Amino acid sequence: MASVSRMTRFAVIAASVAVVAAACGGSSDDDKKGGSGDAGALSGRGPITLATGKDTSGNMQNLVNTWNQQHPKEQARIIELPEDADAQRQQMVQNAQTKSNAYSVLNLDVVWTAEFAANQWIAQLPKDQFDLTKFLPAATKTGEYRNNLYAAPWKTDAGLLYYNKDLLDKAGIKEAPKTWAEMQQDCAKVKGAKCYAGQFEKYEGLTVNFSEAVASAGGVVVDDSGKPNVNTPQAKQGLDFLVNGFKNGMIPKEAISYKEEESRRAFEKGDLVFYRQWPYAYALSSKEGDSKVVDKFGVAPLPGLNGPGAPTLGGHNLAISKFAPNKATALDFIKYLTSEQTERANLIASSEAPTLAALYDDAELQKKFPYLTTLKASLLNAKPRPQAVRYGDVTAAIQEAAYSALTGKATSDKALADLQNKLGQLITS
Ligand code: GLC
Repeated sequence: MASVSRMTRFAVIAASVAVVAAACGGSSDDDKKGGSGDAGALSGRGPITLATGKDTSGNMQNLVNTWNQQHPKEQARIIELPEDADAQRQQMVQNAQTKSNAYSVLNLDVVWTAEFAANQWIAQLPKDQFDLTKFLPAATKTGEYRNNLYAAPWKTDAGLLYYNKDLLDKAGIKEAPKTWAEMQQDCAKVKGAKCYAGQFEKYEGLTVNFSEAVASAGGVVVDDSGKPNVNTPQAKQGLDFLVNGFKNGMIPKEAISYKEEESRRAFEKGDLVFYRQWPYAYALSSKEGDSKVVDKFGVAPLPGLNGPGAPTLGGHNLAISKFAPNKATALDFIKYLTSEQTERANLIASSEAPTLAALYDDAELQKKFPYLTTLKASLLNAKPRPQAVRYGDVTAAIQEAAYSALTGKATSDKALADLQNKLGQLITS
């Protein structure tokens, strides 16, 4: 096992988020009882569950164990959902639609808040019981719907360029590339590995990779006011970076079925010079065992068309299911998970990016992660995905467009024109 000190790098984002909300939220019993600011509505104490995607970090159970030691009568149990974000969403939606009480706390992807809040599947959180000034503002925004807090910011995320330092050193390359052209020039000098990968399977990760490519070429999927504007020359240049990458071999064919973990394994085998990934992989790739790149890789901001690229804002927030008992316990559990102590412990153990701003300026952590400040600054331009009540349909449309272009079923022009049409129907503010 690698010691924590070996994990010298990780990153964070902060960004502005445009919230596009189409549906009306009505008032529920909780709201009437004062759910907006009164924890009285969140009542009941006893055992709870945490529904969360597969714990690739491996540290979630440790965090829950610590809570359980201190709360013998209010034990939390993890219900592990699939690894793929769409499959997680599907299970959480089905659960909510049947008003099941099986999930107490939901580890919600940042893109699902509007849908879950508008459908009244999650309880409003008492804003005054969280010191929101301490969290990265962009992360907090992802947990809000119509200016109310529905999910507490827990983990943030941004795409980073992981590079195989060993291969670059051997080719005499000293610095990570800042543009796509530089990256391809670097690859031409490296022998024995494929150039670049990301996550191109047809799921949420493809929405992320597509959005990053578009934004890194100066385009947008939706503009700052939330209006779709994806049928543009800039968006085409972004999509073509990926389409041409598959055509000319810059991206290996098998990457069309990569999600996060498949791409991590390829990088750890030494099969890739570069790949796009979230911060969580830093700790795992640094661990002795299956990883062949321990101490041999680095992390840099994503490259773009004419300079540094623009990562997509990711992350997870904690919400309370409307249908679960023991909501007072659930609220305390969320406060525990989002506390400075827990976020610090999780960062050290997992390299996942915390939402508490102070951790990025902490001298001890900066010593362990020397590039913390630089990366925080360089990632300030992370872009949110559309926050729509019908997010499931929005992401399906993006995935369909991107996948048909990457697999040669549609030209980039047609894929983007179709996508603009569909998004126009789905996102009406
Ligand atoms: C990461 C991000 C999340 C994103 C997902 C896509 O878990 O934190 O926001 O939707 O990856 O695969």
